[in-house]
Amino acid sequence: MHCYGSLVTCLNCGFVILGLWNLVEHRKSQASYGRHRSPGPPCWMIPARAAWFLQEMPAFLVPLLLMLTSDTPSSMGKYLLLGTFCLHYFHRTFIYSLLIRGTSFPLGVMVNAWCICSVNGFLQGHYLLHCSQFSDDWSSDYRFIAGLLLFFIGMAVNIHSDYTLRNLRKPGEVIYKIPTGGLFEYVSGANYLGEIVEWFGYAVATWSLPALSFAVFSLCFIGPRAYYHHRFYQETFKQYPKARKALIPFIF
Ligand SMILES: NC(=O)c1ccc[n+]([C@@H]2O[C@H](COP(=O)([O-])OP(=O)(O)OC[C@H]3O[C@@H](n4cnc5c(N)ncnc54)[C@H](OP(=O)(O)O)[C@@H]3O)[C@@H](O)[C@H]2O)c1
Repeated sequence: MHCYGSLVTCLNCGFVILGLWNLVEHRKSQASYGRHRSPGPPCWMIPARAAWFLQEMPAFLVPLLLMLTSDTPSSMGKYLLLGTFCLHYFHRTFIYSLLIRGTSFPLGVMVNAWCICSVNGFLQGHYLLHCSQFSDDWSSDYRFIAGLLLFFIGMAVNIHSDYTLRNLRKPGEVIYKIPTGGLFEYVSGANYLGEIVEWFGYAVATWSLPALSFAVFSLCFIGPRAYYHHRFYQETFKQYPKARKALIPFIF
């Protein structure tokens, strides 16, 4: 398959515009799930586990299918796709979603997330398999090494923080508690910080615009969410640690 350069450029711009739009709109509304679910008219709800499983699945399956149906010989792009992007979404689809203990999820939010994961899975997969070009010594390039390091540090922070949140509740509980330990000692959105670091690391390791546009989208989508989680904790818990920030330790 050849590289659909114009389509890739359109999708890159689309992700950045969607992210910036979310950044502008975040004061009026947050994606309506979890503690930020709007008290609007009743809507179809899906159990959290099913919602996360279904919505994240295409981000794992689409690049995998592209890889299986592609006649591209073994390449750096293929290994990067498998070892980073697919790895993240394998965990999100088959491990995170099956362990989560959250409240149920609005169908509309799930459908939006499903669309974003499908398009992003295509964008990242198609670009790394058919458009990217890496020099033979890319695996010893400092951008590859530093990017992968950031990716795996971010992933570890994200998984550890999600684990911490998941274990705050006893089975059947739906209340919110103060998270502690790990990066939660510094920020309220430790899981989001990990995810953002992960995607910027992926962008550096792949040195690609599609990866950068998804990292920008993630920052614009979950950055404000970390801020609203932080404000929620401050308003709900009088004893909430004063020095803790929203997303960036010691700064914001
Ligand atoms: N790349 C992206 O653009 C993107 C976008 C969205 C999410 N994500 C990732 O997906 C994962 C989940 O995101 P999310 O927005 O659902 O995260 P979240 O709001 O922090 O919630 C994660 C889970 O923990 C529960 N929880 C959170 N805080 C809690 C507390 N203080 N006490 C008890 N339970 C608590 C939530 O329950 P409730 O559901 O009942 O609130 C939910 O089940 C994160 O790792 C995030 O980075 C990525």
